[in-house]
Amino acid sequence: MQNIARTLTPTVVVIGTGGTIAGTAADASDNIGYRAAQLGAAQLVAAIPALAGMTIKVEQLTQIDSKDMGFALWRTLAERVAQQLARPEVSGVVITHGTDTLEETAYFLQRVLAPCKPVVLTAAMRPATALLSDGPQNLLDAVRVAREPGASGVVAVLAGTVHGALEVRKLHTYRLDAFGSGDAGPIAHIEEGRLRRHRPWPHGQGQALGLAWLPVDAASWPRVEVLTSHAGADGRLVDALRAAGVRGIVVAGTGNGSLHHALDAALLEAQADGIEVLRSTRCPQGGVVEAGADPQAPLAHPGLRSAGSLTPVQARIELMLSLMPSPTP
Ligand code: SIN
Repeated sequence: MQNIARTLTPTVVVIGTGGTIAGTAADASDNIGYRAAQLGAAQLVAAIPALAGMTIKVEQLTQIDSKDMGFALWRTLAERVAQQLARPEVSGVVITHGTDTLEETAYFLQRVLAPCKPVVLTAAMRPATALLSDGPQNLLDAVRVAREPGASGVVAVLAGTVHGALEVRKLHTYRLDAFGSGDAGPIAHIEEGRLRRHRPWPHGQGQALGLAWLPVDAASWPRVEVLTSHAGADGRLVDALRAAGVRGIVVAGTGNGSLHHALDAALLEAQADGIEVLRSTRCPQGGVVEAGADPQAPLAHPGLRSAGSLTPVQARIELMLSLMPSPTP
């Protein structure tokens, strides 16, 4: 099978979902007053002369601003990616996406598929009509990573940098170099089409849950919400979420996951009543550090589980996946 695959022309499948990379503005100097998701993925590919010599298949899955991403679309996207990766001639899949929820989609796909071929999310901070649009270079770099021999797992490619799906996060609202990989650092940099790799591909990171894990009816996916601890926080939002039938709560705590005492008390009460609670941090860098070298030392917060190095939105996905019923064999 591998020999046959080697003799096939490598095909990259580009799946379009919208975002600023497909956005347009009336004025080329306007970088914020644009409409996302206006151009089709086929137009984005056709605008890059360097892609002309490569075998690329384009599929337009949806056309949205990624702030509106939802569970039904996530499931369809995961299915389409898995179908495309199963074709021997496909070396990898590129997903054009909005920057705003890219890190959530990347994390979700890695946990569900953990693919042994590359799945590359790319996006742009400037619309396609901008004087200095970053979309074309990002898309070109993404296709190169999707053709890279030995590449695997879900990654994000932006501003000449390859981030792993489990680490990537949007850190800046406006600058072109808006993404980071936290303490792990990027997997690679792309320079003139070549990869300078710093660490392994994410394929082996975690076991794939598989598509069967995801309930077909997205409306039945467990409801998990994110709350933040802050000055003057109290338990009223926790009470409102309980009344709304939430199954899990991720709390973005202050510093190393500490919580306002009133919020803390309400969360402990919710947990005692069967709601799953995970404690993360609202700090943009670092995770919740729980245990020291001494296994006998008391935990920082013995009552509420820590989300470790997960960001609040990653912890939300993790908790939601863990609350899904295991598929019947
Ligand atoms: C979006 O996330 O779809 C809009 C913003 C962006 O892509 O930068």
